[in-house]
Amino acid sequence: MARFGAYIAGSGSCVPQRRLTNADLEKLVETNDEWIVQRTGIRERRAVSEGESTVTLALHAAQKALESAKISADDLDLIIVATLTPELITPSTACLLQEKLGVKRHIGAFDMGAACSGFVYSIATAAQFIQTGAYTNILVVGAETLTRIVDYTDRGTCILFGDGAGAVVLSATEDTQRGIQAFELGADGMDGEMLYVPAGGSRLPASAQTIANRQHYLKMNGREIYKFAVHQMTDSLKKAMEACNLTAADVKLVVPHQVNQRIIDSATEKMGFPKEKVFVNIDRYGNTSAASVPLALDEALRSGACGAGDWIIMVAFGAGLTWASATVKL
Ligand code: UT7
Repeated sequence: MARFGAYIAGSGSCVPQRRLTNADLEKLVETNDEWIVQRTGIRERRAVSEGESTVTLALHAAQKALESAKISADDLDLIIVATLTPELITPSTACLLQEKLGVKRHIGAFDMGAACSGFVYSIATAAQFIQTGAYTNILVVGAETLTRIVDYTDRGTCILFGDGAGAVVLSATEDTQRGIQAFELGADGMDGEMLYVPAGGSRLPASAQTIANRQHYLKMNGREIYKFAVHQMTDSLKKAMEACNLTAADVKLVVPHQVNQRIIDSATEKMGFPKEKVFVNIDRYGNTSAASVPLALDEALRSGACGAGDWIIMVAFGAGLTWASATVKL
C-alpha cells in the first residue's frame, strides 16, 4: 500500500535550435518528403550542433522542470536520467547533470537503460521511492542525442530519429489518489538485435575495424519492430486502462512514445481513442527515444491539453525489446 502519492509537480523540455527537415535528408539519402510524411508523419527533427550534447539538453529541460515545480535543485532527493545516448560511457549522465545543476547535497544519481521505454521505466522506479516515503522530490529526465549515433547513409533509420530532452519533478503528496496509479514494465530480451548498436561496448570495443564497418551506428529491423510495436502499444494501453478501471472516455490524454504516426494511430484507434485524445508532436521532432514521452508530456501540460485532476496514460516501447506504461492522475 502506498503511503504517499507520487505526482508530477512540474515539467520542462528542451530541443536544439538546428532543424533537420525532410528536404535536408533528401540531399543525404535516396528518399523524399512524401514517403517520409506518409510512412512516419515526420516533417522535421532537431539536431545538436557542436558544443551541445545529451547533458546540455538534459540541463535545460531539468531547469525548466524545477522552475515549474517551484523548487530548487537542492530540494531534490534523487536524479534519474533515461538515455541510450549517454554523455560518456562512464560516469553516468545523471551524475554529470547533478554537477551541472549545482546540487550541493550528495543525492543519488543514476542512468536508466531501457531505450525508448526508459522514461516510463524511470517514472515507475521513482514512484516507488516516493510512495514508500523514502524520498520527497525526484528529478526524472529523458534526454537523447540520437543524431550522434544515426547512420546518415542508411535511409531506413536516419529519417526517424532526432534530439531532445524532457524532464519532470515527481513529488510526494499525502493524497494517494493522485499521481502514478499503475504501471507496467515489460521486456523480451530474445529480440535484442532488432534494434541495436553492435560496437562500442565490451563485445566489440572501438577499433579501426569497427569504425570502418560502421558498427557504431544504430541498426534496426524496421519492418519487424513495426509489427511488434502496434501489438505492444495496443496491449500496454489496454492494461494501463484496466489497471485503473478506465474507459477511453475517462482518459483525458494518451501521451505515447513518438515513434511513427501510423503505429500511434493504429494502437490508439484500436483502444477507442479519438485523435484529439492522443498527443502527437512527431511531425516536429521525429523519434527522440527516451526523450519522446517527456517532451510530449511537457508540451501537453504547457498547452493545457491536460492538467490537474485529469487521467493520462504514458505508453512506450523500444530496444531491448522493452515496453512500459504508466496510468497517472495529474
Ligand atoms: O523507437 C523505436 C523503434 N523504432 C520503430 O518503432 C520503427 C518501426 N518501424 C517503422 O517505423 C517503419 O518500419 C519504417 C518507417 C522504418 C519503414 O516503413 P515501412 O512502411 O515499414 O517500410 P518498409 O521498410 O517496409 O519499406 C518499404 C519500401 C521499401 O522498398 P521496396 O522494397 O518496397 O522496393 C524500402 O526500401 O520503402 C523503401 N524505403 C524507403 N523509401 C524512401 C525504406 N526507407 C525509405 C526511405 N525513403 N527513407
